Amino acid sequence: MTDIERTEFNVQDTSFPSANDRFGQAGRDVDARAQFEELDAESNLRPKSLDEFIGQPKVRKQLDLVLAGAKGRKVAPDHILLSGPPGLGKTTMAMIIAQEMGTSLRMTSGPALIRAGDLAAMLSNLLEGDILFIDEIHRIARPVEEMLYMAMEDFRIDVIVGKGPGATSIPLEIPPFTLVGATTRSGMLTGPLRDRFGFTAQMEFYEVEDLTKVVTRAAGILGVEISADAAVEIASRSRGTPRIANRLLRRVRDFADVHAGGVIDLGAARAALIVFDVDESGLDRLDRAVLTTLIKGHGGGPVGVNSLALAVGEEPSTIEEVCEPYLVRAGMIARTSRGRVATLSAWQHLGLQAPPGTLGS
Ligand SMILES: Nc1ncnc2c1ncn2[C@@H]1O[C@H](COP(=O)(O)OP(=O)(O)OP(=O)(O)O)[C@@H](O)[C@H]1O
Ligand SMILES: [Mg+2]
Repeated sequence: MTDIERTEFNVQDTSFPSANDRFGQAGRDVDARAQFEELDAESNLRPKSLDEFIGQPKVRKQLDLVLAGAKGRKVAPDHILLSGPPGLGKTTMAMIIAQEMGTSLRMTSGPALIRAGDLAAMLSNLLEGDILFIDEIHRIARPVEEMLYMAMEDFRIDVIVGKGPGATSIPLEIPPFTLVGATTRSGMLTGPLRDRFGFTAQMEFYEVEDLTKVVTRAAGILGVEISADAAVEIASRSRGTPRIANRLLRRVRDFADVHAGGVIDLGAARAALIVFDVDESGLDRLDRAVLTTLIKGHGGGPVGVNSLALAVGEEPSTIEEVCEPYLVRAGMIARTSRGRVATLSAWQHLGLQAPPGTLGS
């Protein structure tokens, strides 16, 4: 990890409690958000070039064109927005863009840019062609956003010097740069900001086949022997998310080191995932507790999120932001105006007979 990256995370960790929800809960292996202790492990596993980047064929192809076009014309590429859920490779892709363009990457994040001066300091240090990466760009403060518009459009900003009636505005030229923004909540971006990106890459969840390649590649880098079926097993429990795949691989490796002579075969992978409580659909104890409450406690719902949270002993926000998105995507629960409802697959997942009229039957 670079010093800049480390500093950014430290800043967020100590000074911006509200930004801490970008870090997953320790102990929840299937939380797609990064865990603070794994940041180093993650950076070792990042692909370094577009060719090495697995999956996301559409995004890779589009980016390849955008970057090749810019290289051909010898200009900085258009500003790029990388949008998608946590752990799918946005930061990795930002680093690859800089790598492919042969320029340097300056990293910061929305919550770290509080005053316009914070951004002005970043911008005035840019060299021509640099990539400015703003993670969680939906969280930048309004005055910063206004300065960013100008910088993106005209490569110029106005710096206000002094206070009150004596304040003057000094125009400052910025060398042509490319802004790469990443967001897990593109809906929270204001229209004017979104419009200033020349290209938006929408990152999608990964198919098991691609995640299997992610697991196999990571095992190679970590120097662990893994069988093909064990790689598929880990991939299929990883919720479409490379970060989770890499994390489960590390857990399984620890288990294999102790119990299987360091070799990961299907038996070792399954046994390890039982120990770490990640089932064959990638659900952990909390996900199953939510389904059990919904089905055994309330006949399948509808149940409000607050009652669900109370029953499983979690914050409503954890249920809404961590459990539900995946359960909804896996087609196990549906959100309705009256509350959450279990679908047929949820009943089946718990091995129960669904009553007639269950959603999805
Ligand atoms: N296509 C890929 N191939 C191989 N590994 C990948 C790929 N995409 C992501 N990873 C791995 O997954 C981990 C998480 O990726 P990354 O940090 O880029 O996600 P992110 O989208 O920026 O997440 P967040 O929203 O939390 O910032 C990294 O360790 C990275 O190595
Ligand atoms: Mg990231």
